[in-house]
Amino acid sequence: MKGKKIVIGITGGIAAYKTAYLLREFIKEGAEVKVLMTQAAKEFITPLTMATLSKNPVLTDFFNPENGDWNSHVDLGLWADAMVIAPATANTLAKMNYGIADNLLLTSYLSAKCPVFFAPAMDLDMYKHPATQKNINDLIARGHICIDADSGELASGLIGKGRMAEPLQIFNVVKNFFEYRKSLKGKKVLITAGPTYEAIDPVRFIGNYSSGKMGYALAEECKNRGAEVTIVSGPVSIPKPEGIHIIPVKSASEMLDACLKHFPDTDIAIMNAAVADYTPAQTSEKKIKRTKDDMFIELKPTKDIAAELGKIKKKNQLLIGFALETDNEEKNADKKLKKKNLDFIVLNSLQDKGAGFGYDTNKISILFQDNKMKKFELKTKLEVAKDIVNEIELNRKK
Ligand code: CTP
Repeated sequence: MKGKKIVIGITGGIAAYKTAYLLREFIKEGAEVKVLMTQAAKEFITPLTMATLSKNPVLTDFFNPENGDWNSHVDLGLWADAMVIAPATANTLAKMNYGIADNLLLTSYLSAKCPVFFAPAMDLDMYKHPATQKNINDLIARGHICIDADSGELASGLIGKGRMAEPLQIFNVVKNFFEYRKSLKGKKVLITAGPTYEAIDPVRFIGNYSSGKMGYALAEECKNRGAEVTIVSGPVSIPKPEGIHIIPVKSASEMLDACLKHFPDTDIAIMNAAVADYTPAQTSEKKIKRTKDDMFIELKPTKDIAAELGKIKKKNQLLIGFALETDNEEKNADKKLKKKNLDFIVLNSLQDKGAGFGYDTNKISILFQDNKMKKFELKTKLEVAKDIVNEIELNRKK
């Protein structure tokens, strides 16, 4: 962190007292810190505390009331290598999402050209509310990094999720970000994500429950480490992430065509999509009418995209697959790893509670060609993405 310029933004929550510890971590590691506080934040911790720890004046107002100097949010936004908003209240998250600029912290946020980190902190019901969840998800989709709230006893006395992450955890996320930042620079990553839709007629299809969240989290993580990322995406309802190239497709065959086109120019390919294994032998051009008779749809197999890429994979290319299994997990995953010529395969077991389709968490094991296996704990999909990209780095080909 030596020499890194950090703007810490403090908003009005009881967790503001913990931000003094966060500030100390940055200073201890040699970062230069400037602190912005909202008026409400000053009710929870004094500017004097933060000014003394940061050895810089704390900024709260657009103008210095003593000499009329203008505090330039534009300058601050350009100065910072990172902006860390901790605690981030529901109110500030909403304003950040909608571009409301009614204090110096928010105008600086809108002027910032640097990575933005935020640590939500609020009562459990405010945290759970769809409005807050939407704001958090929109900000993540905008490319900001959320250090998610912890569960535990809250200031209200209630128990639940909403407590600000511990200062050391917040600090480590920022530190890791700078350490990892360049590790995939110059690398081109191709990711398949989401389900495929196989058309039966103009209004019906065969699909599956894949949300695409894991693939998009992997894309975000690779981007954060400097890679140029393309997602060949089946139909998902995830906001378009910034700085990532999306190729939208519907069917398995469209996904295959896009992958074959882009794979030759790819360093790392991650096959995360839940591709349909079968597609209707015929797609009716007109809507199929209801009759009294039984109905049969003839299906024909689709091409296995991962296996097709495995056949043309060059020595310097890394190919990673996923396996979603309900039984004989490790044996089945190992078969797929070898049959598809993958470098490693990420196994999700549907037997693990909280893992797989639709959840925000995942529990994985990674199996390698030399029969080694690594098992990981149940984690958020964002954390799982980090573990997988760490493995990519360890197995990277020059
Ligand atoms: N895959 C693919 N194209 C397909 C089917 C699967 O690229 N037509 C990829 C998936 O993206 C995943 C891996 O292959 O990385 C394994 O997918 P999975 O559905 O678990 O395995 P299948 O090979 O389809 O076998 P099965 O459905 O019988 O378990």
